[in-house]
Amino acid sequence: MPENKDVTVIRRAEAADLPRLAEAEQVCFGQEAWDAEGLEWLFNDLEVCFWLLEDEAGKLRSWVVWGKGTRSFQAADIPAFSGDLGNHRFIRVMSIATLPEFRGSGFARSLLVEGLEKAQAEGYSGAVLEVRPRNFPARRLYESLGFYRVAVLPAWFQSPEEDGEIWVKQF
Ligand SMILES: CC(C)(COP(=O)(O)OP(=O)(O)OC[C@H]1O[C@@H](n2cnc3c(N)ncnc32)[C@H](O)[C@@H]1OP(=O)(O)O)[C@@H](O)C(=O)NCCC(=O)NCCS
Repeated sequence: MPENKDVTVIRRAEAADLPRLAEAEQVCFGQEAWDAEGLEWLFNDLEVCFWLLEDEAGKLRSWVVWGKGTRSFQAADIPAFSGDLGNHRFIRVMSIATLPEFRGSGFARSLLVEGLEKAQAEGYSGAVLEVRPRNFPARRLYESLGFYRVAVLPAWFQSPEEDGEIWVKQF
């Protein structure tokens, strides 16, 4: 993959970012994208955190959405996850994407690594996410960061309907 030596900035999203995030969602997720209204609703949820990766000029390249608090998971609630972790909490990766022209340069990895480090420092025991079985780039990304598959949920995703794989990383 090409190495991108540009300077990039990772920062928490602000309300003013929502319109361009909605556009970028459309580009990356099409039918499944959160629309402007859905994004605003999520953004106003104090347990949902949007982080952006931009270039020096503030142009969006990649973003990630984390679910904390009640939007995170208790180990016992993760299907088929038989970790001996009692009521430990796993932060949820609710969404991650990189605009197509910026893919393959390590931006999604940077966002995840930074967020996972923060989550660990905040006391989470790991992270959990859902992915489509045929989303090979995403699965490889997660695998390279130490996530592993713990369950398959039939018909979990819509448009198109597809099973969902639950992947977990323990810190
Ligand atoms: C999945 C996605 C977020 C990856 O973003 P990215 O910024 O291109 O990823 P990175 O450059 O950080 O890649 C990190 C790792 O992911 C894997 N990866 C990324 N793109 C890949 C591809 N096209 N094929 C195979 N593996 C790939 C590799 O393991 C890579 O590590 P490497 O460069 O050391 O080989 C991006 O492809 C995307 O936005 N897809 C559409 C939205 C989506 O499916 N989101 C995930 C929903 S679960």
